Amino acid sequence: MKIQVNARNRAYQFETTEGEKILYAGLSEAIGLPYECASGTCGTCKARLVSGEVIDGWPEAPGRKYLKDDDEFLMCQCAAKTDVSIEVASFVQPIEADVCVPAAMKGVISSARLLTPDVIHLQVRLNQPMEFDAGQFMLVQAPGVAGYRGWSMVNHQREAESLEFIVKKKPGGGISEWLFNTDCEGVEVDLFGPLGQATFYPSLAKNVLCIAGGSGIAGMLSILSRAAQNDYFSQYKGDVFFGVQTLKDAFFLDEFSKLRTLCGDNLNVVIALSKEEAPASALNDHPQLKFDTGYVHDVAGRHMQGGYQNVRAYLAGPPPMVDAAIRVLLQARMTTDNICYDKFS
Ligand SMILES: Cc1cc2nc3c(=O)[nH]c(=O)nc-3n(C[C@H](O)[C@H](O)[C@H](O)COP(=O)(O)OP(=O)(O)OC[C@H]3O[C@@H](n4cnc5c(N)ncnc54)[C@H](O)[C@@H]3O)c2cc1C
Ligand code: FES
Repeated sequence: MKIQVNARNRAYQFETTEGEKILYAGLSEAIGLPYECASGTCGTCKARLVSGEVIDGWPEAPGRKYLKDDDEFLMCQCAAKTDVSIEVASFVQPIEADVCVPAAMKGVISSARLLTPDVIHLQVRLNQPMEFDAGQFMLVQAPGVAGYRGWSMVNHQREAESLEFIVKKKPGGGISEWLFNTDCEGVEVDLFGPLGQATFYPSLAKNVLCIAGGSGIAGMLSILSRAAQNDYFSQYKGDVFFGVQTLKDAFFLDEFSKLRTLCGDNLNVVIALSKEEAPASALNDHPQLKFDTGYVHDVAGRHMQGGYQNVRAYLAGPPPMVDAAIRVLLQARMTTDNICYDKFS
């Protein structure tokens, strides 16, 4: 089936297959259609149907609340039933040559390991090596669970043969119940990606500020890993704020300590505990790290005072945490072009 997209600046045509979501079909053709979550919640991918018919895979999607008229739909949830012509209100550019073009692929969960009672670390072996940028995420669909979930990569390698994720359990959530209640090792999953623009390149030449809540730390680890591979922190500063409720909810502290050893004093890692003060044992066990009490955006605001020169900020985690961190950064007079974020909606 043919899709005709009329964007604000130009038109595009591409082919799609039965059941394929229009957003994913366009992105696979290196057309930079608008999206944020790619999974039905943010409304960024809305488009207007001019002619033809689409099938909505998730009519209850929360992102539909951003649609104003009956002829509007979410490109990440709808597939074409016939040839269609659609309108997208924003400017749409081709995906640049040096950016990884998303594609559909399959993978097998090769390991699943609990980091805390409600956080699991997954390794997914891919059926083909994949390039992605540090800070990107992947859509993952498990058998028997409707719809894709976005998960940020933890690792970063060129030509990666496997992807690592950390997933926080959402009580009652479709994929959470599946992951935490079944033996998922050896199970084949569908993937689409890489996606997301909150990416880090060593050519950035700026100090890096990471503020993450819970599993939001996933993409930050990918960024730090890429930076460490390039000896980035010999020239630039890195400040990482990892927010959890209590020390029992924290994970990867040994990995952060190793990064500190590798990168030296230019990398500063603060664990922000919102519901308790850090016990003395935390400092003894992790002398390379700092601990503070409060919400992660407040802790970051206190530690960063006067330290925002030449900074690019990366934020990820639950939407209220990301929104609060954005407010702190704007109050500190950071400009929006230096604030990248992923809301784990
Ligand atoms: C950019 C991005 C990156 C993310 N990275 C991470 C990460 O690294 N780690 C992490 O733990 N979480 C991450 N999340 C959140 C993650 O995608 C899930 O929301 C989370 O795993 C809970 O999923 P669930 O199935 O348990 O909950 P549910 O509430 O069942 O579903 C969560 C989401 O899945 C989609 N969904 C649900 N039902 C359907 C359906 N019938 N059809 C289509 N779509 C459906 C919707 O987007 C919904 O909001 C990220 C989210 C985004 C947007
Ligand atoms: S990109 Fe489709 S709703 Fe977020």
